[in-house]
Amino acid sequence: MILTELARAKVNLALHVVGRRADGYHLLDTLVAFPPIGDRVGVAPANAYALAVTGPGAAALGDTAPADNLVTRAAVGLAALAGRADVPVAITLEKHLPVAAGLGGGSADAAATLRLLCRLWSMDPADAAVRDLAGRLGADVPMCLASRPLRAAGVGEVVTPIASLPALGILLVNPGVAVPTPAVFRALDRRDNPPLPETIPSDADALLAMLAEARNDLEAPAIRVAPVVADVLAALRDCAGARLARMSGSGATCFALFDHEGAARAAATAVAAAHPSWWARSAALGGDGGSPPA
Ligand code: C5P
Repeated sequence: MILTELARAKVNLALHVVGRRADGYHLLDTLVAFPPIGDRVGVAPANAYALAVTGPGAAALGDTAPADNLVTRAAVGLAALAGRADVPVAITLEKHLPVAAGLGGGSADAAATLRLLCRLWSMDPADAAVRDLAGRLGADVPMCLASRPLRAAGVGEVVTPIASLPALGILLVNPGVAVPTPAVFRALDRRDNPPLPETIPSDADALLAMLAEARNDLEAPAIRVAPVVADVLAALRDCAGARLARMSGSGATCFALFDHEGAARAAATAVAAAHPSWWARSAALGGDGGSPPA
């Protein structure tokens, strides 16, 4: 029996850096969407732990030892929690998302592994012990475990689901330059910015107006680390029907929002034609993209 799940990209529609913890991690206030664009993770009971990575993004993972991959660490951690340390699983990871890209790809893969093994072992992924394990694996893993529209605070681990996102279209574009997250946080000028507004509107125009006033505080430092981010943002702002263009996470992936998925799809075709080496994917933000994964 093989169970599989889509490990959806994490897109920070807005990301405000509002403080810093004593250990150096940054306190965030972020609105996050999980459009149905991602990696495919599979698990099956096996005689020994194994990890097989395939797909167009596999090479970018380089020579990371299987035991060090976040999906293996997630599986081993959950097995220990479940008292199943002697029940190995074989994991397949079909890698499509760019790595070190601000989309939480590795975190999404680890979170999908946790959800799959919870299904296999009849555990509840919303259980506090599972969420704690997710937080130990990485700051973005708890939000990827939820994989639904949400607001996150703390270093990302304080997750509050929001009801839904409107049926806008979204286009993700990555220029193929890996951006290390710690370098971007180090290049920040201010770490005490104001938070997002208290209420997140569910209506499309009101949400877009709110987002236009909001920011990604990591955008300016990311452009200093990887100037190509500014080119991606300019290309997105030039797309017909783009209502908002912004960077996700610590970059270099940027996104644009459109009134409809069709406009996002047309823009993806135009960006791919103008920049054949860039990665461009479109999807619906709300609708399918706004509900938890099956
Ligand atoms: O938790 P994760 O491994 O994704 O974080 C990568 C790095 O990004 C951390 O080592 C830290 O330097 C930085 N970071 C941060 N504040 C956060 C999340 C990450 O400073 N909230």
